[in-house]
Formats: sequence, C-alpha cells, structure tokens
Amino acid sequence: MSKGLYIKTFGCQMNEYDSDKMAALLKQTHDLERVDAPERARVLLMNTCSVREKAQEKLFSELGRWRPLKEADPSIVIGVGGCVASQEGDAIWSRAPYVDVVFGPQTLHRLPALISEAHRGTGPVIDVSFPEIEKFDNLPASDVDGPSAFVSIMEGCSKYCSFCVVPYTRGEEFSRPFDDVITEVYELAGRGVREIVLLGQNVNAYRGATHDGRVVDLAALIRLVAAIDGVDRIRFTTSHPVEFSDRLIATYAEVPELVSHLHLPVQSGSDRVLAMMKRGYMVAEYKAIVRKLRRVRPDIALSSDFIVGFPGETQADFDATMALVDEVGFDQSFSFVYSARPGTPAAALPDDVTLMEKKHRLAILQRRINELAEARSAAMVGGVERVLVTEHSKKNPAELAARTVNNRVVNFQGPASLIGGFADVSITAALPNSLRGELVAARQAS
Ligand code: SAM
Ligand code: F3S
Repeated sequence: MSKGLYIKTFGCQMNEYDSDKMAALLKQTHDLERVDAPERARVLLMNTCSVREKAQEKLFSELGRWRPLKEADPSIVIGVGGCVASQEGDAIWSRAPYVDVVFGPQTLHRLPALISEAHRGTGPVIDVSFPEIEKFDNLPASDVDGPSAFVSIMEGCSKYCSFCVVPYTRGEEFSRPFDDVITEVYELAGRGVREIVLLGQNVNAYRGATHDGRVVDLAALIRLVAAIDGVDRIRFTTSHPVEFSDRLIATYAEVPELVSHLHLPVQSGSDRVLAMMKRGYMVAEYKAIVRKLRRVRPDIALSSDFIVGFPGETQADFDATMALVDEVGFDQSFSFVYSARPGTPAAALPDDVTLMEKKHRLAILQRRINELAEARSAAMVGGVERVLVTEHSKKNPAELAARTVNNRVVNFQGPASLIGGFADVSITAALPNSLRGELVAARQAS
C-alpha cells in the first residue's frame, strides 16, 4: 500500500511547479501518494517562499502544527524546502529541532536520497546547494492534470533588483537545455495538453543550448513549440522588460498560438524609483515595448507587478505609477507593499514613508487596477471568446469552466466531452471574479 505525502506550498507558480515535481519524484522512489491532510502523511514537506515578509513566521507556525504528529510518531519525516530553507539553512534547527530534512529549490531532485538518509535516523540532513543542471536532469514528468501544463525552461535570476531575494535563494539564471524542453512539450502534447506555459523567473533571458552546440532564445523556442502538433496555446511567465527583444515582439505578429496576454512586471512608474530598484530600464522604455506590442497585437492585454512604498517613494513617484497604470490600462495585476528583505541592498536604504501611508497608496492603486480589469471584463460581454475548457465548474459541477485568452474563468453549460478542448463561448455576464457564457460551438485545433 502506498504511503501519504503532504506538501504545503507557499508562494509563486514556480513553487507550485516544484511541489508537483517533488510529488512525482517521491511517488517513483518511495511510493508516496499525495494526501490533503498532514495527519494522513508519512512524509510532510513545506515548500517555502521568502519574497515578502512573514515567510519565516508562516514556516514556524505551520511547523508548530506538525510537531505533535512527529511527537506521536517519530518515524514520520518532516522536510523544509524552498527559498526560506535556502536562506536559513541549518538555522531552522535552532527553532524546530524536530525537522529532519532541509533542502533548497535547486536540490529538490535529491529529496529521495535525503529522505532515505533521514529514515536511517543518523541525524538531521541538509542540502541547500545550487547544482542547477542536475535538477533539470533528474526530475520526472509531472502528472498531466487538464489541458494546460507548465514547462520549466529556466531557473534562478541574475537581475539582482535591489529589493529581491530570489537571486540569493534560487541562484543565478540557468537555462534548461533546448532538447529537453522540446521533448517535454512533445510528450505533453501527446498526452492531450493543448496549452503550454513556459515557466521561469525571467523566461526572456532563456538561452537554451542545443545538442549541436547552438543556442535558442525565447523567441525561437516559442516558434518551435508552436510547431508541435496539438499545441494551440502558448503563454510564458514571468518575463522582464530588460531583454524583451524586438525578436520576441515579432513572435506576436508571426505565431498565432502565442496568446494576446502578457504579464510584464514594471514595479513602478517613476524613473527615480526604478533606478533605486536597479530594474535596468526607464518608464519610456517600458512604454516603448507596450507600443510595439500593440502595433503587432492591438488586442493584447497586459498585466503587471507593482511595489508600492519602496524606501523614499514620494507622493510624486506614486502619482507617476498611477499615471502609468492609466496610460497602459493594465489588466488584472499584482501589487504589494514593499517588504524589506534581509540581505538585499534596498533593506539598508533610509525609509521615511510610514506603513500607514504605504497601505493607503496600495489601496488606491488596487482600486484603480480593479476598475480597469472590471471595465475590460464588462467590455467582453456580448462578444464571442475562444476558450480552453479545463474542468467542471467548481461552484456548479453541472457546468464547465474554461479560460479565455486573457486568463479569465468563464462558466457555461455544455457537455463534459468538451473538457480538454477549445470552444467558442459567447460572454453573457461579467461577475467580480469570473464570466458567464453560452456555448456557441466546440472548436477543432487551429
Ligand atoms: N521576474 C519578475 C520581474 O521581472 O520582476 C519578478 C519575480 S518576483 C519573485 C515576483 C514579484 O514579487 C515581483 O515582481 C515583485 O513585485 C514582488 N516582490 C519581490 N520582492 C519584493 C519585496 N521585497 N517586497 C514586495 N514585493 C516584492
Ligand atoms: Fe527578483 Fe528582479 Fe529577478 S524581482 S526575480 S531580482 S527580476
């Protein structure tokens, strides 16, 4: 009989992807089956995130909940992975000595060996090193879960924005070899996957080596992925305004499979703040990318990440961000109050903006972004959208749930046989978190 594996995941899509890989790996090596309650597990893993504050607190409070399980049965294994593990290393044991394994984002492929070692009971086991290539080489395919799949194409980040821990916790940018990426996409397409999401911290920094010594960039990769039979939709996340090349913009003109939706984090609309953040571009350069994209794809929806209350951000800086939001007309976006991360250069900057003021600015920004997103949803009503039907609707299993090009959920009535394929749906109503629609026609691959 297989044994239970419980994984608690914090943070980004990258961590979700890593957790799926851990589960696939431990199923192969230890016959562990993922369960949804820690009480039913023999191995409990936490995949942590340290991009914003409270990461440590979240980790230790969750560990506190697991402690009685370990006390009741010392043979269960508790592991901590991800970015907090990478940052804290063996310091985790001073607060939680009952943890058996500590592993980093780049050593999760070594988990089977680490867990076996923990089972031998020779003491706590740690590996938070950065052997990037090894990780890509040793991870099994994840289970296919619906018609959309993430494919990791690069790891780490070398941009060193002054506020961000990622380059320290995940290491420098490293591209997965092109042949491996394309083989994975080919296999996924063969198993019914219709949408590929190319994943990495900065996917437009992708430079994948081929078996014959050439190097493929993201623009070329997208064209080659689009050429694979069965792949009808391509997304990528996250990209960075630096290295958003004209070659990449041209793919929007030439590759219809590439969706008219782009997440391109800008962080701030003030050149002064962007320079302090060490983002490597000015607002005018960001706007130039948007202009060029809209020239080749007039209907493209843009979403972004914003940080509000960076140290020393003035009212004028914040107003510049608001002006940029209006000018670009961003769709659903992520925005956060700046959180000082230990060890990053920005953490040493003087900061005279109160937390209350930062939260006030965040509320203003979020209200405006929500208004823009709602207006965009409302404008979709009456139109027909090509949607990818992903599953039964969560709220009403008699209905289907699908995704539009701009990543909105649409619920509509239709036969379950549509799941896994595309359909044309006319949009009848825009609700706060989803759309309602009526089936017009099932679609064959384009
Ligand atoms: N590669 C992406 C880019 O081009 O900016 C960002 C990846 S980062 C892990 C995800 C988002 O977290 C960032 O875009 C930023 O908005 C937010 N973030 C990172 N560090 C932060 C901090 N110290 N405080 C608040 N938000 C932060
Ligand atoms: Fe972080 Fe900047 Fe890289 S936000 S992930 S250092 S692009």
